[in-house]
Amino acid sequence: MNVIEPKVIHDFQDVIRGSEVNTSVKLYQDAKGFYRTESALADDTLMYEVYHYTQGDDKRAGNLNWGLTVLYPVLVNGECNMTRGHWHENRKCVEFYFCIAGEGLLMLMDEDGTTWAEKTYPGSLHHIDGHLAHRLINTGEEPMKIGACWPCDAGHDYAAVERQPFGYRVYKEEGTLRFEKVED
Ligand code: F6R
Ligand code: MN
Repeated sequence: MNVIEPKVIHDFQDVIRGSEVNTSVKLYQDAKGFYRTESALADDTLMYEVYHYTQGDDKRAGNLNWGLTVLYPVLVNGECNMTRGHWHENRKCVEFYFCIAGEGLLMLMDEDGTTWAEKTYPGSLHHIDGHLAHRLINTGEEPMKIGACWPCDAGHDYAAVERQPFGYRVYKEEGTLRFEKVED
């Protein structure tokens, strides 16, 4: 029997490594529109990184992506750093998130705009139904690392979240969280 090395290493102390791992970076200049106000943060401030990996056809139904988001502890005029947030284009596609490091919130919104959040901390596991928009928010003091597994044919529907934004914004003021309701 031939025994070979794995193609990819997900080092929980670090990131996902392997020649076929895709990496994307979100800087403040790409993320300005997510926050209620603009801040004096440098345009090249690193907000988050996304690593993802699959093997074979990356659109084939039944195939899976494995991923990692590293979301940095940045405040934008007091508003906690967050991912852009999306529904899956294919609303049948569920996703698992799991927290490896840091602490924060997984904000969820149904198609009526009802918004709530699950706490994320090392070991927390989150099943995200296909009809829920999802966004990560770092409320802690260290990089928040969230692993993920989702179907390759899920797609990302960002436009729907622009039409119907998440119902709350999350601020951290003198160490205390404040949730601000977004008015329609
Ligand atoms: C994939 C998924 C994550 C996010 C990542 C960045 O379906 O949910 O890999 O893509 O956390 O968030 P967005 O894509 O909303 O900027
Ligand atoms: Mn997703």
